[in-house]
Amino acid sequence: MIWLNGNPPADKILNEVELRVQKFKTSNHRHIKLVVVWVGNSEASKVYTNKKAVIAKQVGMLSELIHLPETTTAVELKNLLVKLNNDPTVDGMLVQRPLPGTLELEPIHLWITPEKDVDCFHPYNLGTLMRNDPEALVSCTPKGVMALLDFYSISVAGKNACVIGRSLIVGRPMTQLLLNANATTIQVHSKSKNIEELTQIADIVVVAAGLPEYFGKKMFKKDSVVIDVGIHRSNSGKIVGDCIADELINHVSGLSPVPKGVGPMTIAVLMQNTVLCAEKRVKN
Ligand SMILES: NC(=O)c1ccc[n+]([C@@H]2O[C@H](COP(=O)([O-])OP(=O)(O)OC[C@H]3O[C@@H](n4cnc5c(N)ncnc54)[C@H](OP(=O)(O)O)[C@@H]3O)[C@@H](O)[C@H]2O)c1
Repeated sequence: MIWLNGNPPADKILNEVELRVQKFKTSNHRHIKLVVVWVGNSEASKVYTNKKAVIAKQVGMLSELIHLPETTTAVELKNLLVKLNNDPTVDGMLVQRPLPGTLELEPIHLWITPEKDVDCFHPYNLGTLMRNDPEALVSCTPKGVMALLDFYSISVAGKNACVIGRSLIVGRPMTQLLLNANATTIQVHSKSKNIEELTQIADIVVVAAGLPEYFGKKMFKKDSVVIDVGIHRSNSGKIVGDCIADELINHVSGLSPVPKGVGPMTIAVLMQNTVLCAEKRVKN
């Protein structure tokens, strides 16, 4: 079995991004800028938002982390996003999830202009993905999974691919990308019956259910490839995925580790998406 380590492909993407950032600066006499909005006090969000801001700086972008209090209202958040939409110095922006209280229920995906929507929640961006538009801006984690498969020369066309999970940020765009890459796709979720009958026919399984160390050997066909998107801190403080990795070694042919599997790819693609947004905006 090979470990599908995300660090080498993520570094490759970040090196390419750095070159594009420099080229953009030379041609347009300004920096590319990413804005990350963090509402509330979730410790996990603090770690993720800081990491995004740090990597953006590392590749030569300007990055701004806007931290808003837990009491922020929908109107206040919307006003900020509209201001950022209209700010010509901002190329990409995102609101870190989860959001506190009822903010999660607000249509934030409509408040960020599709041109700067690096997380790709806007219906326009979801639509271009569905249309298999080569210019589509695609959600970071699923796009990162495709880049991970490509880096390790795991072909997708003609394969049976199963995605566990149907969230808008991972599961749904993941299935669409696999379909766009000519896989035969199956999508399962919490209401699916006899899941292992479906996962067992898959050559590639992407697991994004958000259940710590839940899926063991019996779920997967011998020599299949398993991409574990899940990320959790166990009671003992260890970072684990959705899969029971120890059971899968010597059963599957490839497995992405947690951590250092999909995680680094997600951040690298976020930077790639930000550059893409900047380049498209000057072109149009
Ligand atoms: N590494 C990274 O960069 C990265 C990025 C994003 C997310 N993640 C991690 O990936 C995991 C999934 O994230 P998410 O945002 O997609 O989570 P989510 O919004 O909670 O969605 C989980 C999905 O899994 C389905 N599900 C739950 N239990 C299931 C079961 N027993 N069998 C089959 N499907 C089941 C749910 O079905 P229903 O729709 O029926 O509820 C739902 O569609 C989380 O651990 C998250 O932390 C990692």
